[in-house]
Amino acid sequence: MLFEQIATGGCQSYLLGCPDTQCAVLIDPEISQIDRYQGLASRYGVRIRYVIDTHTHADHFSAAHRISETLGVPTVMHQVSPAPHAGLRLGDDEMLIVGNLRIRALHTPGHTRDSMCLVVGDRVFTGDTLLIGGTGRTDLPTGNPEQLYDSLFGKLLTLDPALLVYPAHDYKGRTHSTIGAEIAENPRLQKRDRAEFVQMMRELNLAAPTHMTEALRTNMTGGKTVSQLLADAAAKVPHIGLEELRRHIDGGANNLLVLDVREDAAFRSGHIPGARHLPRGQLELRVNEEIPDPTMRIVTCCEFGKISTLAAATLRELGFMRAVALDGGMKIWRDKDYPIET
Ligand SMILES: [Fe+2]
Repeated sequence: MLFEQIATGGCQSYLLGCPDTQCAVLIDPEISQIDRYQGLASRYGVRIRYVIDTHTHADHFSAAHRISETLGVPTVMHQVSPAPHAGLRLGDDEMLIVGNLRIRALHTPGHTRDSMCLVVGDRVFTGDTLLIGGTGRTDLPTGNPEQLYDSLFGKLLTLDPALLVYPAHDYKGRTHSTIGAEIAENPRLQKRDRAEFVQMMRELNLAAPTHMTEALRTNMTGGKTVSQLLADAAAKVPHIGLEELRRHIDGGANNLLVLDVREDAAFRSGHIPGARHLPRGQLELRVNEEIPDPTMRIVTCCEFGKISTLAAATLRELGFMRAVALDGGMKIWRDKDYPIET
């Protein structure tokens, strides 16, 4: 089996491939690693056939939807997953056949209702059901400590003790463990009485993960994260550096329109000399009267260089083919003591 474990902070994702047929699957991909997964697949000469999420992640951004769309392959999740983009849904004990690999899903609710573990040959991908020296938490949406107890003690831990355990998270740099080692040493699994286990899980009092609402929104719906939206816009427009813009302005460029897209108060408190003001919220409403010449060279600017990128992308879509965005924003412009007009 071709095997790569890709760590992103504490998130673990996996590329598994069949060397005989050159087909592969991706398990729990993370949004910032899309190029890496595709690079690895190319390096091994494998084609990714399925993208699997072991559950609805609440703590990081899944790349499953994005990669599925790019590659034209299904996102695979459990039957009860809320994600509308899950094109293939597995029930308990159902299997994906990928070349010579047999990937068997075990429904293991508890961390989330749609959690599943994946048994492949000598190893099991445990998602957040079982971690090395821990378990997934059960206090986030659809979590349930009783179900986690049943999934662990009634199902996962009854598998061959020699099976290698590859979890969806590890924050201590460990790569894997075994079922046997976890039964023997995992502190949470020492509470083998159902009521004691449930009480322990209920008393963990963990802080909510950062970005939880955004992660749930995007992972449950297949929508974009805010940074994806910005990255997509940035990929569609050229940028110009602050220093270069300043040089053009100092040189008295009269073929360049600096378009400040911030709100009124921000614009009035100080802007790039000669900048025209058209707030982002009114861009589509007023663009025809404000910029009659679609061939005009336009540089959009805002406070931090994010909204200006969206504005430049919108202008390009509207046909202003020379719209570019400032690489940076007024914050850095002021910090550099570049000229300001009030
Ligand atoms: Fe999770």
